[in-house]
Amino acid sequence: MSDSTPATKSRKPIFLTLLGIATCAGMLSMPVIAGPPNGEAMPDMMRFLGRFHPVILHLPIGILTLALLMEFGSLFTRNAASTRGIMFFAAATSVIAVIAGFLLFQSDLEADVTDRSIRHLWGGIAFSCVTILAYIVKSWTDAGASAAWFYRFLLICSAGVMGFASHDGASMVHGADYLSKYAPPALKPLLGGKVEEPKDPAAVADPLVYESIVAPMMEEKCWKCHNVEKIKGKFRMDSYELLLKGGADGAGFVAGDASKSNIVIRCELPIDDDERMPPDEKPGLTEEQLTVIKWWINAGASNTVKLSEANAPAEVAAIIAKQAPVVKTTAAAETPAVAPAANDKQRDDLKAAVTTVQKTFPGAVQFESQASTGLTFTAVSMRGKFNDDDTAKLGPVIPSLVSADFSASLITDKSLVLLSSASGLRTLRLSETPITDAGLDTIAKMASLESLNIYGTQITDAGLQKLSALPQLKRLYVWRSKVTPAGVEELKKKLPQCVIEMGI
Ligand code: HEC
Repeated sequence: MSDSTPATKSRKPIFLTLLGIATCAGMLSMPVIAGPPNGEAMPDMMRFLGRFHPVILHLPIGILTLALLMEFGSLFTRNAASTRGIMFFAAATSVIAVIAGFLLFQSDLEADVTDRSIRHLWGGIAFSCVTILAYIVKSWTDAGASAAWFYRFLLICSAGVMGFASHDGASMVHGADYLSKYAPPALKPLLGGKVEEPKDPAAVADPLVYESIVAPMMEEKCWKCHNVEKIKGKFRMDSYELLLKGGADGAGFVAGDASKSNIVIRCELPIDDDERMPPDEKPGLTEEQLTVIKWWINAGASNTVKLSEANAPAEVAAIIAKQAPVVKTTAAAETPAVAPAANDKQRDDLKAAVTTVQKTFPGAVQFESQASTGLTFTAVSMRGKFNDDDTAKLGPVIPSLVSADFSASLITDKSLVLLSSASGLRTLRLSETPITDAGLDTIAKMASLESLNIYGTQITDAGLQKLSALPQLKRLYVWRSKVTPAGVEELKKKLPQCVIEMGI
């Protein structure tokens, strides 16, 4: 980089221009030459260098922003300093960020190659190329060419491309709704978010087939080995997209054809087959669960279809009614018999409370069934957000809860104290929350609890033993917690009827 004093005005930046063009050409051809990523074939050094991408990428963003601000300022002053030097650093650091990002893309073992990651790669390269171009044009302007407005135009383009590329990057790391999630409703559609329509609070739970019926079955029998930390067979099953994407053997399922779907094939193998899932003759999906999963796949494996729209044949409907707590239709028989009139009155009283809560958390609370006075709650659309203050807002509906899903929310032991009035709770999901052993004191008093989900928490053996006071407990999920096999054994002695899923 030569300085930009008037003395050098006549020197044309030809070498620089050629170098810039060559760099752009190099970056543009990189993905084409390298072909699709194959993480395993790459040396660790590439992975190591690639991981600097998230650090470096902020440099060109900051530097370019500075150049933009200075250029804007120069509109109002006569002797503003040239932004050429700054643009050199913006261009150079953008190239480094692109190369590191490219290494990350090519070498990361867990890389999810999605449309978004490919778009992000090209977006990053485009950003770098426009920045280089802007720098070249600025060099020519400083050398006497009259292209100041073209330079400013390129600067703005560069900032625009940067916006798109970094939005894709952020969405890859933090989830697609990162920006739109808390945006004011008027802005949401612009940012690609969904505006949630408040649902009719009196509506009976009409669950999504995948999310409420199929996924919980796999959560129970498969996720402990196929999750974010354990990716057996390079296969994660803990989201619809990853399930579809599959693992080393290809897609997890073929929509419309269960018999060609890996998840079904693997589960239907004879129990002593090495490839059967789960391995080592561990108890897997039951016949009934497999029937439901096969039906779901054959019907197109949608992740948006609701139970009411899915036209489940009688056999499947019967299994679903029996299995999934949210759609239990036998609830009335399980809750103490109430005279119909009293039941109606209770429902009417509750409706007001439900409506209030629905205003704050649309769609989160619903009646378990038409006749029941039991309520279901799910924080699934508020993962990573729902916290203790929010639990407090559930106040009046808490005593009527029969099923509550707080998985991956931010609730702590404080919320569990608030839930102590939920004496009829049968299903409670607290996986991946910051709860600790202390919180289990309240849970140990929920005498109706049948299923408890505390995987991915800090619960230890000491906390686990508190659950021995739960006579109805039939299912307990504890993998990725601090619980040890010895702790599980001890609890099993006290709760022989309870299936404790521990992972391996
Ligand atoms: C105890 C751990 C464990 C459990 C539980 C488990 N798996 Fe696996 N799974 C593995 C291991 C290990 C592999 C890799 C070895 C292999 O391919 O057989 C694997 C591989 C697979 C594969 C092949 C992935 C690929 O593309 O190579 C599929 C499909 C699969 N599992 C489905 C399931 C299903 C469905 C369930 C639940 C019913 C399940 N697994 C439960 C350990 C487990």
